[in-house]
Amino acid sequence: MTMEPCYYLVILEIERAQEYRCDDSDEEDDDKESEMTLGDIEKIKNDSLAKFNSSGIEEFSMDEAEVDEMLGDRSYSGGDIPIETLLEVESKNALKKNISFKFYFDSERAEFDSENFVEYINIIKAKYPSIIVKKEKKQYEDWDKIWKEFYSPIKISSIFEIIPSFLKDNYQSDSQCFVYIYPGQGFGTGGHETTHLCLEFLSELCSDDKNKRGPFSFDNAKILDFGCGSGILGISALKYCYKNNLNFSVVDLLDIDSKALENAQINLEWNFDKSAFPKNVNLIQKNTARGLNLQGSKEGHNLIFANILMNVLLEEKSYLISLLAPNGFLIISGLLQEQMNITLNEYLRNNENNDLKLKLISQKTKGDWGALLLQKIDK
Ligand SMILES: C[S@@+](CC[C@H](N)C(=O)[O-])C[C@H]1O[C@@H](n2cnc3c(N)ncnc32)[C@H](O)[C@@H]1O
Repeated sequence: MTMEPCYYLVILEIERAQEYRCDDSDEEDDDKESEMTLGDIEKIKNDSLAKFNSSGIEEFSMDEAEVDEMLGDRSYSGGDIPIETLLEVESKNALKKNISFKFYFDSERAEFDSENFVEYINIIKAKYPSIIVKKEKKQYEDWDKIWKEFYSPIKISSIFEIIPSFLKDNYQSDSQCFVYIYPGQGFGTGGHETTHLCLEFLSELCSDDKNKRGPFSFDNAKILDFGCGSGILGISALKYCYKNNLNFSVVDLLDIDSKALENAQINLEWNFDKSAFPKNVNLIQKNTARGLNLQGSKEGHNLIFANILMNVLLEEKSYLISLLAPNGFLIISGLLQEQMNITLNEYLRNNENNDLKLKLISQKTKGDWGALLLQKIDK
């Protein structure tokens, strides 16, 4: 039940133009055309960062074996490397005709970004045929050790606590409902403010405290987690239903990213034993909420989470509103504080032409982020 996060490396080998090497030999290169200038190389580096979301670039013109061979007995075997040795390596480096770069891609869209970057390099290759490009998929070493240092339980409220899956057998939660999350490739371990705010709203909807919004009736409810990432929001609602013997109707977990959905599936498995595995959960790979009604009954969703960037929230507005059942709640998050009013006004704008209107029930902020709780009510 694990899915180890990985990253992608694109390795380029480039021929530098003679004037950009510290090569003082008089020997002329025959094929200047196919050599790259410093400007060409800088452009590739800048584009990798700005257009293809590379997270880092490493530059080298000798590999470790070459350096060892060059240094012979003086080869580094621990301790500080003497400065003259470093200078020697550097000066030999500068003479080399070929230079290599490693471009790192490790975002949620790393596979897609690295592939696009390779395509971009292949276009440049038409002018500089000597470029060699390779792409490799890498697994993080010791991932298990790394994430154990970074993740710990997150108490959201007296109702919900998010617990990293590796603590499942060794942590006693005093919350009513604890949700195990495997920190894989789907966004949503509970640590981000935008997720936290959604879970705070969910806690209020679940509460029977008269000063809070709830209790929301999960009986026969349809729930949508739009942009589900790890599935943390939908699974939390689902877990609450199970703990309290409430009969929800369906939970739709939707994401554009197949890796997020794989992570959501893993998280369902961490939270529900095979014998009690929820039947009515749909994992949907889509980039829009449009047409979602067709997948289930036409009655609309009673609770929708949408923790996603503002531009997607605005593009999806009419679909999300139309999916919402009468009296249904819509939790919107992923907004920077300064985006809250713009987004709210856009969501309330449709009200004039409809019998049912959206009402702002509550808004919350945490750090730089904000979230809105809306309800569809009779006019
Ligand atoms: C900020 S994360 C939220 C994850 C999780 N729901 C949470 O609250 O922690 C946003 C998610 O939306 C997904 N996403 C982005 N654009 C989308 C689109 N147009 N349609 C569906 N999902 C999208 C991303 O892949 C990502 O998993």
